Amino acid sequence: MLTAPSSDEARRLRDFFLASGYIASGIQAQLAVRIPLPSYSPQMPALLARTAGGSTFDLLTRCFFLGQPASEAAVAVLPADILTLLQRCGLLRRDGAYWRPAALLTPCAGLWLASDTFDYRETAQARDYVMPINEPALTLLDFAVPCDGVSVLDLCSGNLMHGLAAGTDAKVVGSDLNPRAALFGAFNAALNARDDVTCVTGDLFAPVAGERFDLILSNPPFVISPGSDHPFRESPLDLDDFSRRLVGEVGEHLNEGGFCQIICEWVELEGQPWQERLTDWFARSGCDAWVLAANRQLPQTYAREWVVETSHEPGPPAPQRYAAWLEHLTARGVTAVHGGLISLRRRTGGENWISFSRIEAGLPGKPIGAAVRQGFRNRDFLHAHPSDAAILDAGLVITPGARLESKAVWRGGSWHPDAMVLSVDDGVPVRLGLDANVIALMERLEQFPTLGGTIADFARAQGLPIADIQGQCLGILRRLLEQGCLMPRTPSGT
Ligand SMILES: C[S@@+](CC[C@H](N)C(=O)[O-])C[C@H]1O[C@@H](n2cnc3c(N)ncnc32)[C@H](O)[C@@H]1O
Repeated sequence: MLTAPSSDEARRLRDFFLASGYIASGIQAQLAVRIPLPSYSPQMPALLARTAGGSTFDLLTRCFFLGQPASEAAVAVLPADILTLLQRCGLLRRDGAYWRPAALLTPCAGLWLASDTFDYRETAQARDYVMPINEPALTLLDFAVPCDGVSVLDLCSGNLMHGLAAGTDAKVVGSDLNPRAALFGAFNAALNARDDVTCVTGDLFAPVAGERFDLILSNPPFVISPGSDHPFRESPLDLDDFSRRLVGEVGEHLNEGGFCQIICEWVELEGQPWQERLTDWFARSGCDAWVLAANRQLPQTYAREWVVETSHEPGPPAPQRYAAWLEHLTARGVTAVHGGLISLRRRTGGENWISFSRIEAGLPGKPIGAAVRQGFRNRDFLHAHPSDAAILDAGLVITPGARLESKAVWRGGSWHPDAMVLSVDDGVPVRLGLDANVIALMERLEQFPTLGGTIADFARAQGLPIADIQGQCLGILRRLLEQGCLMPRTPSGT
């Protein structure tokens, strides 16, 4: 097992990793991947070929990112004191003529994060496996709102990536059912020189009963599966009940104005819009809720993908597993499985709003938390201005970083304007095809302090009566605001 390094040892290790270029951008540049992959990945031969050079970067990447053993000769590139340190911390151990990583150590968000190796998952039947950095975890981190407050809870913390990455200046608590997660969390806190970190063990919020936080991030065990033998990805609760429980209880653990963000999956049941089901989840949370749906899979697709994903695991042959997975979903009336991000913000003393939107333009692949927070302000504005009369007296502006791309098609010997596409740099991903009229309306927002003035001038320019176009213009502006292309003129949004 791992032994947390002293502060001096941790500094020496970090300095060595930095000097070797063993950082996230280095791995991205050399390997073009951002998460560790198991040995059976079809990409592994190519990744090994790209790290065959014999540098310290190559050795560190092969051992701690790709989980490969290294020969005595390969390890000789490490300074003796670093090899001793890696061995003393339990990261590297001798195995006959080889050295084997006892943990992965992934560079991510300026940190180095230890987790179990993929080999450990196979040998230990996965029950107490602490996952390496994974795509959902990175996506959640990309969406995480900047923490203005003083306390962060990483719920279902695993290797504690979210707590350490999001709560840079905050008091961080990591909580997980798996006691080994607390060991990895404490190790990662020490390795990354983070003092104000506590790791606790228990079911959901039980270890933090009575405590409140400014930011809660969670990548829970959300996979909707017929079994519950893999607590790192699935829970014994039926379908999406774990996420429902989390959402239902989280309000009690947020400070006023605090955010909770969860990446998860939820089901659509026969005869019920999924939005209606999720509205019930939020009913007594005391929070505003914004659901960003990213994908929708039919039960057949979902079952097939998971059978492929788990094909290396022991168990019945693939056709039987597929049938069991599909039966689990269809017997419960599941017509689709949705994946996405749920963001909640505690706001008591008024009626809470719920907003559903879809990420139409792919995942961000970079931090966009400030845009998520602005998305809440935009929805507060809409909530505060429910009627046309109220909103006409308020003002909107174009979001900084809005980008308009003009496309043209070559026809008959010249370019013909074809489409104008609006997106927002560092925004929640959006790509909207706009026509020239909408662009003309948007441009006027900058010249007039109120929407009433904007629409009146636009109507004049079009030679149309205001009353004929006002409703349509407001509908367009409301949608652009929801999609993050516009924002309230005043920060308070009033
Ligand atoms: C999908 S993993 C995510 C781990 C880590 N946060 C990440 O993003 O890589 C889900 C985590 O939830 C933990 N877990 C499972 N059931 C739990 C429960 N009832 N209460 C708290 N944590 C639980 C697992 O041990 C696992 O570490």
